[in-house]
Amino acid sequence: MFPPRLTERDPDASIRETDTDAAVARFSAVQKGYVQDPFVRYFVPRPHLQHPRPPLINVGTYLRGTAIDELVDEWLVQSQSVGLQCQIVSMGAGSDTRFWRLATGKHKDTLARYIEIDFPEVTGKKAMAMRKSRDLNEVIGIGATDVRMSNGGIGVQTKYQLLPADLRQPPSTTFTKLLATPLWEGDSPLLSPSLPTLLLFECVLAYMEPTASDAILRWFVDYSSSGGSPLGAIVYEMFGLEDAFGKVMVNNLKSRNVSLPGAAPYPTVDSLPLRFLNTGFTAARALTLREIWKSYISPEELERISTLEMLDEVEELDLVLEHYAVTWGLLLPNPDAAAQSQWGGWGLKRKNPCT
Ligand SMILES: C[S@@+](CC[C@H](N)C(=O)[O-])C[C@H]1O[C@@H](n2cnc3c(N)ncnc32)[C@H](O)[C@@H]1O
Repeated sequence: MFPPRLTERDPDASIRETDTDAAVARFSAVQKGYVQDPFVRYFVPRPHLQHPRPPLINVGTYLRGTAIDELVDEWLVQSQSVGLQCQIVSMGAGSDTRFWRLATGKHKDTLARYIEIDFPEVTGKKAMAMRKSRDLNEVIGIGATDVRMSNGGIGVQTKYQLLPADLRQPPSTTFTKLLATPLWEGDSPLLSPSLPTLLLFECVLAYMEPTASDAILRWFVDYSSSGGSPLGAIVYEMFGLEDAFGKVMVNNLKSRNVSLPGAAPYPTVDSLPLRFLNTGFTAARALTLREIWKSYISPEELERISTLEMLDEVEELDLVLEHYAVTWGLLLPNPDAAAQSQWGGWGLKRKNPCT
């Protein structure tokens, strides 16, 4: 009989590693001129040794980032136009730099709170990167020594909060404790149900069972409804894994010990909005990255992108872009005419009317 293996690999380690892939892909898109992001290099391991990713990956990174940026910006603009600040919660945020970009952008004053949640190992790594970088800390408005790490999170009271949690745990315990009750005695809870709230799920729900992700959405639907404020959510992920291309993708990930239980209920782009409509949201829409590429990027931007790199794998690009989508959902707890006219138009806008 053999003794038990002491170095059994944590089954979530491979999921956490997808964060490095995402950060390296974004860094590559920055290096090649697709997007601007002065902060991403602080989150990439040994940035000077990273090689650019293939054009196909760079285009995908550009499209998803641009589409999500537009939805987030529009949420901030809508909030501002009704005289409110808003709060953003990014789930499975990994090394994402969106907070730093927003906090140095033109709508920074509309942001009441920006909360990031990920596994403690990932938030711990992020907190460490922040501790080392004055550029990152200056934006948050704290000194490096204020970045106190506790359980993989940061323990400072600023607009920005980095919280360690496993999103698969029941939200009635994790979210109620972390977001809806004061973390420190005498403080207010991190979230307010009376402010417009936007949830970001960028490449995270596919790794979770659908029951767990539905529970998160339902918790936020109940929470926002209790304060009567609008709730928006954006999901970016792969779908349609039943066809030949999807099966290759699934097998590639399986060889890295990553499975995608959360993508199974969504075989087509038309099925993606159901994630929101079945959990209490009042409206939802999904667009594939291919649709975004063809009709939701301005002709000037398409022209600029076309000069950056030689893109000769056009058919393969189309196939990849058809398997990723951005889906957004909206809940208006009081959907009267005024709320509809203020918030009902939130969504990506067609830029290329000829397609
Ligand atoms: C592909 S990365 C995406 C990171 C970031 N959202 C982006 O798009 O750049 C997936 C992230 O989701 C996180 N994640 C996956 N499942 C999670 C869970 N159950 N609880 C907390 N975080 C999770 C991973 O740790 C990882 O940081």
